[in-house]
Amino acid sequence: MSLPAIFNRLRLPVIASPLFIVSCPELVIAQCKAGIVGSFPSLNARPISQLDEWLHQITEALSDHNRGNPDRPAAPFAVNQIVHKSNNRLDEDIALCEKWQVPLMITSLGAREDINAAAHRWGGIVLHDVINDRFARKAIEKGADGLVPVAAGAGGHAGTISPFALMQEIRSWFDGPVALSGAIAHGRSVLAAQALGADFAYIGSAWIATEEANAMQAYKQAIVDGHASDIVYSNLFTGVHGNYLRGSIANAGLDPDNLPESDVSKMNFGSGGNAEAKAWKDIWGSGQGIGAVVAVEPVAARVDRLEREYRDAVSALAESTARFSG
Ligand SMILES: Cc1cc2nc3c(=O)[nH]c(=O)nc-3n(C[C@H](O)[C@H](O)[C@H](O)COP(=O)(O)O)c2cc1C
Repeated sequence: MSLPAIFNRLRLPVIASPLFIVSCPELVIAQCKAGIVGSFPSLNARPISQLDEWLHQITEALSDHNRGNPDRPAAPFAVNQIVHKSNNRLDEDIALCEKWQVPLMITSLGAREDINAAAHRWGGIVLHDVINDRFARKAIEKGADGLVPVAAGAGGHAGTISPFALMQEIRSWFDGPVALSGAIAHGRSVLAAQALGADFAYIGSAWIATEEANAMQAYKQAIVDGHASDIVYSNLFTGVHGNYLRGSIANAGLDPDNLPESDVSKMNFGSGGNAEAKAWKDIWGSGQGIGAVVAVEPVAARVDRLEREYRDAVSALAESTARFSG
Protein backbone atom coordinates (compact mmCIF):
# COMPACT_ATOMS: atom_id res chain seq x y z
CA MET A 1 0.00 0.00 0.00
CA SER A 2 1.32 3.47 -0.80
CA LEU A 3 2.03 5.86 2.05
CA PRO A 4 -0.02 9.02 2.64
CA ALA A 5 1.44 11.95 0.69
CA ILE A 6 2.55 13.85 3.82
CA PHE A 7 5.41 11.37 4.17
CA ASN A 8 6.82 12.21 0.72
CA ARG A 9 8.95 15.02 2.15
CA LEU A 10 11.02 12.86 4.53
CA ARG A 11 14.79 12.69 4.16
CA LEU A 12 14.96 9.43 6.13
CA PRO A 13 12.23 6.94 7.11
CA VAL A 14 12.26 8.24 10.69
CA ILE A 15 9.62 9.54 13.09
CA ALA A 16 11.01 11.22 16.23
CA SER A 17 8.64 9.99 18.90
CA PRO A 18 6.86 12.10 21.54
CA LEU A 19 8.66 12.28 24.90
CA PHE A 20 6.94 13.38 28.11
CA ILE A 21 8.53 16.64 29.39
CA VAL A 22 11.49 16.31 26.96
CA SER A 23 9.75 17.21 23.66
CA CYS A 24 9.39 20.98 23.26
CA PRO A 25 8.84 23.23 20.23
CA GLU A 26 12.61 23.80 19.73
CA LEU A 27 13.16 20.02 19.48
CA VAL A 28 10.19 19.43 17.17
CA ILE A 29 11.12 22.32 14.86
CA ALA A 30 14.75 21.11 14.61
CA GLN A 31 13.59 17.55 13.85
CA CYS A 32 11.18 18.65 11.11
CA LYS A 33 13.72 21.06 9.58
CA ALA A 34 16.26 18.21 9.51
CA GLY A 35 13.80 16.21 7.40
CA ILE A 36 12.27 13.73 9.84
CA VAL A 37 8.85 13.82 11.53
CA GLY A 38 9.04 15.68 14.86
CA SER A 39 6.45 15.23 17.59
CA PHE A 40 5.45 16.12 21.16
CA PRO A 41 2.81 15.00 23.67
CA SER A 42 0.10 17.68 23.90
CA LEU A 43 0.26 17.32 27.72
CA ASN A 44 3.79 18.80 27.65
CA ALA A 45 2.17 22.16 26.94
CA ARG A 46 0.75 23.24 30.30
CA PRO A 47 -1.54 25.03 30.89
CA ILE A 48 -3.70 24.26 27.88
CA SER A 49 -3.33 27.81 26.49
CA GLN A 50 0.33 26.94 25.93
CA LEU A 51 -0.69 24.26 23.43
CA ASP A 52 -2.22 26.96 21.24
CA GLU A 53 1.04 28.95 21.48
CA TRP A 54 3.22 25.92 20.70
CA LEU A 55 1.13 24.94 17.67
CA HIS A 56 1.34 28.53 16.45
CA GLN A 57 5.12 28.63 16.98
CA ILE A 58 5.77 25.29 15.23
CA THR A 59 3.45 26.03 12.30
CA GLU A 60 5.04 29.46 11.70
CA ALA A 61 8.63 28.21 12.03
CA LEU A 62 8.04 25.39 9.54
CA SER A 63 6.24 27.69 7.07
CA ASP A 64 9.14 30.17 7.29
CA HIS A 65 11.61 27.34 6.69
CA ASN A 66 9.63 26.13 3.68
CA ARG A 67 9.48 29.61 2.14
CA GLY A 68 13.28 29.93 2.44
CA ASN A 69 14.08 26.34 1.41
CA PRO A 70 11.66 25.24 -1.32
CA ASP A 71 14.12 22.49 -2.38
CA ARG A 72 14.45 21.15 1.20
CA PRO A 73 11.02 21.53 2.84
CA ALA A 74 10.47 20.55 6.46
CA ALA A 75 8.93 17.20 7.34
CA PRO A 76 5.44 17.28 8.91
CA PHE A 77 5.00 17.31 12.69
CA ALA A 78 2.83 15.16 14.94
CA VAL A 79 1.00 15.71 18.23
CA ASN A 80 0.63 12.84 20.67
CA GLN A 81 -2.64 12.41 22.58
CA ILE A 82 -2.90 10.24 25.66
CA VAL A 83 -6.34 8.68 25.11
CA HIS A 84 -6.81 7.56 28.70
CA LYS A 85 -9.88 8.27 30.81
CA SER A 86 -7.74 10.20 33.29
CA ASN A 87 -6.79 12.74 30.59
CA ASN A 88 -9.43 15.39 31.26
CA ARG A 89 -8.25 17.88 28.61
CA LEU A 90 -8.36 15.53 25.60
CA ASP A 91 -11.38 17.17 23.90
CA GLU A 92 -9.91 20.67 24.23
CA ASP A 93 -6.55 19.44 22.93
CA ILE A 94 -8.23 17.85 19.91
CA ALA A 95 -10.09 21.11 19.21
CA LEU A 96 -6.73 22.96 19.15
CA CYS A 97 -5.25 20.33 16.82
CA GLU A 98 -8.21 20.94 14.52
CA LYS A 99 -7.67 24.73 14.72
CA TRP A 100 -4.04 24.28 13.62
CA GLN A 101 -4.82 21.41 11.20
CA VAL A 102 -2.18 19.17 12.76
CA PRO A 103 -1.09 16.84 9.94
CA LEU A 104 -0.33 13.76 12.08
CA MET A 105 -1.66 12.54 15.41
CA ILE A 106 -0.15 9.76 17.49
CA THR A 107 -2.56 8.24 20.00
CA SER A 108 -1.46 6.21 23.04
CA LEU A 109 -3.07 4.24 25.87
CA GLY A 110 -6.50 3.84 24.25
CA ALA A 111 -8.09 3.88 20.78
CA ARG A 112 -11.24 5.97 20.25
CA GLU A 113 -13.34 6.11 17.10
CA ASP A 114 -14.43 9.72 17.65
CA ILE A 115 -10.82 10.94 17.92
CA ASN A 116 -9.87 9.22 14.66
CA ALA A 117 -13.00 10.58 12.94
CA ALA A 118 -12.22 14.11 14.17
CA ALA A 119 -8.68 13.97 12.75
CA HIS A 120 -9.98 12.66 9.44
CA ARG A 121 -12.43 15.58 9.20
CA TRP A 122 -9.54 18.05 9.07
CA GLY A 123 -7.44 15.80 6.81
CA GLY A 124 -5.16 14.53 9.61
CA ILE A 125 -3.69 11.04 9.82
CA VAL A 126 -3.69 8.98 13.02
CA LEU A 127 -1.06 6.44 14.06
CA HIS A 128 -1.92 4.45 17.18
CA ASP A 129 0.73 2.92 19.41
CA VAL A 130 0.28 -0.69 20.49
CA ILE A 131 2.26 -3.34 22.35
CA ASN A 132 0.64 -6.42 20.81
CA ASP A 133 -1.31 -7.68 17.80
CA ARG A 134 -4.67 -7.71 19.63
CA PHE A 135 -4.47 -3.98 20.37
CA ALA A 136 -3.26 -3.38 16.80
CA ARG A 137 -6.38 -5.02 15.36
CA LYS A 138 -8.63 -3.03 17.71
CA ALA A 139 -6.94 0.24 16.74
CA ILE A 140 -7.45 -0.34 13.02
CA GLU A 141 -11.08 -1.47 13.60
CA LYS A 142 -11.65 1.85 15.37
CA GLY A 143 -10.35 3.83 12.41
CA ALA A 144 -6.65 4.51 13.03
CA ASP A 145 -4.75 4.90 9.75
CA GLY A 146 -1.54 3.25 10.90
CA LEU A 147 0.28 1.64 13.78
CA VAL A 148 3.27 2.15 16.03
CA PRO A 149 4.20 -1.30 17.35
CA VAL A 150 6.16 -0.64 20.55
CA ALA A 151 8.46 -3.63 20.96
CA ALA A 152 10.59 -4.83 23.87
CA GLY A 153 13.37 -2.47 24.89
CA ALA A 154 11.56 0.77 24.02
CA GLY A 155 11.72 3.81 26.27
CA GLY A 156 8.56 4.92 28.06
CA HIS A 157 5.69 2.45 28.20
CA ALA A 158 7.39 -0.39 26.34
CA GLY A 159 5.98 -3.77 25.47
CA THR A 160 7.70 -7.09 26.02
CA ILE A 161 7.37 -8.63 22.56
CA SER A 162 10.32 -9.00 20.19
CA PRO A 163 10.14 -6.64 17.19
CA PHE A 164 10.48 -9.67 14.89
CA ALA A 165 7.41 -11.36 16.38
CA LEU A 166 5.37 -8.16 16.54
CA MET A 167 6.11 -7.10 12.96
CA GLN A 168 5.47 -10.50 11.49
CA GLU A 169 2.08 -10.78 13.19
CA ILE A 170 0.98 -7.26 12.22
CA ARG A 171 2.22 -7.49 8.62
CA SER A 172 0.29 -10.76 8.12
CA TRP A 173 -2.97 -8.73 7.97
CA PHE A 174 -2.13 -5.00 7.82
CA ASP A 175 -0.54 -3.25 4.84
CA GLY A 176 -0.97 0.37 5.98
CA PRO A 177 1.63 2.71 7.54
CA VAL A 178 3.70 1.15 10.33
CA ALA A 179 6.41 2.83 12.45
CA LEU A 180 8.38 0.33 14.51
CA SER A 181 9.42 1.48 17.99
CA GLY A 182 11.96 0.15 20.46
CA ALA A 183 15.72 0.61 20.99
CA ILE A 184 16.38 2.19 17.57
CA ALA A 185 19.19 4.76 17.74
CA HIS A 186 21.49 3.94 14.79
CA GLY A 187 21.00 4.28 11.04
CA ARG A 188 21.61 0.53 10.65
CA SER A 189 18.61 -0.14 12.90
CA VAL A 190 16.46 2.21 10.80
CA LEU A 191 17.22 -0.02 7.80
CA ALA A 192 16.55 -3.11 9.93
CA ALA A 193 13.09 -1.75 10.82
CA GLN A 194 12.36 -1.48 7.10
CA ALA A 195 13.66 -5.02 6.56
CA LEU A 196 11.16 -6.22 9.17
CA GLY A 197 8.37 -4.65 7.11
CA ALA A 198 8.02 -1.28 8.84
CA ASP A 199 7.74 1.92 6.82
CA PHE A 200 9.45 4.02 9.50
CA ALA A 201 11.72 3.72 12.50
CA TYR A 202 10.19 5.43 15.55
CA ILE A 203 13.04 6.83 17.65
CA GLY A 204 12.65 8.17 21.20
CA SER A 205 15.44 8.03 23.79
CA ALA A 206 18.21 9.11 21.42
CA TRP A 207 16.66 12.63 21.18
CA ILE A 208 17.07 13.18 24.92
CA ALA A 209 20.81 13.61 24.29
CA THR A 210 20.39 16.55 21.92
CA GLU A 211 20.97 20.24 22.56
CA GLU A 212 17.35 21.13 21.83
CA ALA A 213 15.78 18.57 24.23
CA ASN A 214 14.12 19.87 27.40
CA ALA A 215 16.15 17.72 29.81
CA MET A 216 18.75 18.34 32.50
CA GLN A 217 22.36 18.07 31.40
CA ALA A 218 22.87 15.11 33.77
CA TYR A 219 19.98 13.22 32.09
CA LYS A 220 21.43 13.91 28.63
CA GLN A 221 24.84 12.68 29.80
CA ALA A 222 23.30 9.54 31.36
CA ILE A 223 21.87 8.68 27.93
CA VAL A 224 25.34 9.11 26.37
CA ASP A 225 26.97 7.01 29.10
CA GLY A 226 24.24 4.36 29.31
CA HIS A 227 23.89 0.90 27.77
CA ALA A 228 21.13 -1.70 27.56
CA SER A 229 22.18 -3.23 30.89
CA ASP A 230 21.45 0.11 32.63
CA ILE A 231 17.73 -0.13 31.86
CA VAL A 232 15.13 -1.35 34.39
CA TYR A 233 11.52 -2.35 33.51
CA SER A 234 8.97 -1.33 36.16
CA ASN A 235 5.35 -0.18 36.57
CA LEU A 236 6.02 1.72 39.79
CA PHE A 237 6.26 5.21 38.33
CA THR A 238 3.11 5.52 36.19
CA GLY A 239 1.11 2.33 36.79
CA VAL A 240 2.06 1.03 33.32
CA HIS A 241 5.26 -0.92 32.73
CA GLY A 242 8.06 1.16 31.26
CA ASN A 243 11.86 1.34 30.95
CA TYR A 244 14.00 3.63 33.13
CA LEU A 245 17.67 4.38 33.81
CA ARG A 246 18.87 2.32 36.76
CA GLY A 247 21.13 5.12 38.11
CA SER A 248 18.24 7.60 38.39
CA ILE A 249 16.20 5.08 40.41
CA ALA A 250 19.13 4.50 42.76
CA ASN A 251 19.67 8.29 43.10
CA ALA A 252 16.03 8.59 44.20
CA GLY A 253 16.82 6.25 47.11
CA LEU A 254 15.13 3.16 45.64
CA ASP A 255 16.62 -0.26 44.95
CA PRO A 256 16.35 -0.77 41.15
CA ASP A 257 16.44 -4.54 41.59
CA ASN A 258 13.65 -4.67 44.16
CA LEU A 259 11.00 -2.15 43.11
CA PRO A 260 7.48 -2.64 44.46
CA GLU A 261 4.54 -3.05 42.05
CA SER A 262 2.50 0.07 41.42
CA ASP A 263 -1.10 0.65 42.48
CA VAL A 264 -2.72 0.61 39.02
CA SER A 265 -5.88 2.33 40.33
CA LYS A 266 -3.81 5.51 40.84
CA MET A 267 -2.84 5.73 37.18
CA ASN A 268 -3.31 9.31 36.03
CA PHE A 269 -2.26 10.99 32.78
CA GLY A 270 -4.48 14.09 32.84
CA SER A 271 -4.15 17.15 35.05
CA GLY A 272 -2.87 14.80 37.75
CA GLY A 273 -0.07 13.92 35.37
CA ASN A 274 1.54 17.13 36.55
CA ALA A 275 1.72 15.89 40.13
CA GLU A 276 2.93 12.58 38.79
CA ALA A 277 5.64 14.33 36.79
CA LYS A 278 6.76 16.23 39.90
CA ALA A 279 6.80 13.13 42.07
CA TRP A 280 8.97 11.23 39.62
CA LYS A 281 10.83 14.09 37.92
CA ASP A 282 14.20 12.59 38.77
CA ILE A 283 13.31 9.12 37.44
CA TRP A 284 14.59 9.12 33.89
CA GLY A 285 12.90 7.12 31.15
CA SER A 286 15.04 5.44 28.50
CA GLY A 287 14.99 2.55 26.06
CA GLN A 288 17.69 -0.09 25.63
CA GLY A 289 19.17 1.33 22.40
CA ILE A 290 21.21 4.14 23.95
CA GLY A 291 24.54 2.34 23.51
CA ALA A 292 24.49 3.91 20.01
CA VAL A 293 24.32 7.47 21.42
CA VAL A 294 27.87 8.79 21.76
CA ALA A 295 27.46 12.54 22.29
CA VAL A 296 25.05 15.31 23.17
CA GLU A 297 24.77 17.12 19.85
CA PRO A 298 22.37 19.35 17.90
CA VAL A 299 19.46 17.55 16.23
CA ALA A 300 20.80 18.48 12.77
CA ALA A 301 24.11 16.71 13.51
CA ARG A 302 22.28 13.66 14.89
CA VAL A 303 20.14 13.38 11.74
CA ASP A 304 23.26 13.79 9.53
CA ARG A 305 24.86 10.97 11.51
CA LEU A 306 21.75 8.75 11.19
CA GLU A 307 21.75 9.37 7.44
CA ARG A 308 25.43 8.43 7.07
CA GLU A 309 24.92 5.26 9.12
CA TYR A 310 21.80 4.41 7.11
CA ARG A 311 23.53 4.87 3.73
CA ASP A 312 26.54 2.79 4.91
CA ALA A 313 24.16 0.05 6.08
CA VAL A 314 22.33 0.08 2.73
CA SER A 315 25.66 -0.52 0.92
CA ALA A 316 26.79 -3.20 3.39
CA LEU A 317 23.46 -4.98 3.09
CA ALA A 318 23.55 -4.89 -0.73
CA GLU A 319 26.98 -6.54 -0.55
CA SER A 320 25.95 -9.24 1.90
CA THR A 321 22.61 -10.02 0.20
CA ALA A 322 24.39 -10.25 -3.20
CA ARG A 323 26.03 -13.45 -1.89
CA PHE A 324 22.60 -15.03 -1.68
CA SER A 325 21.10 -13.71 -4.88
CA GLY A 326 21.14 -17.16 -6.48
C1 LIG B 1 11.45 9.88 28.52
C2 LIG B 1 10.39 9.27 27.65
C3 LIG B 1 9.13 9.83 27.64
C4 LIG B 1 8.12 9.28 26.82
N1 LIG B 1 6.90 9.89 26.78
C5 LIG B 1 5.95 9.44 25.92
C6 LIG B 1 4.70 10.11 25.81
O1 LIG B 1 4.42 11.11 26.48
N2 LIG B 1 3.80 9.63 24.91
C7 LIG B 1 4.07 8.52 24.14
O2 LIG B 1 3.23 8.13 23.34
N3 LIG B 1 5.26 7.87 24.24
C8 LIG B 1 6.19 8.32 25.09
N4 LIG B 1 7.40 7.66 25.18
C9 LIG B 1 7.65 6.51 24.30
C10 LIG B 1 8.24 6.97 22.97
O3 LIG B 1 7.32 7.74 22.26
C11 LIG B 1 8.72 5.79 22.09
O4 LIG B 1 7.74 4.81 21.95
C12 LIG B 1 9.98 5.16 22.65
O5 LIG B 1 10.81 6.14 23.21
C13 LIG B 1 10.74 4.42 21.57
O6 LIG B 1 11.75 3.64 22.10
P1 LIG B 1 13.29 4.17 22.26
O7 LIG B 1 13.22 5.17 23.36
O8 LIG B 1 14.00 2.95 22.63
O9 LIG B 1 13.69 4.77 20.97
C14 LIG B 1 8.41 8.15 26.01
C15 LIG B 1 9.70 7.61 26.03
C16 LIG B 1 10.69 8.14 26.83
C17 LIG B 1 12.06 7.56 26.82
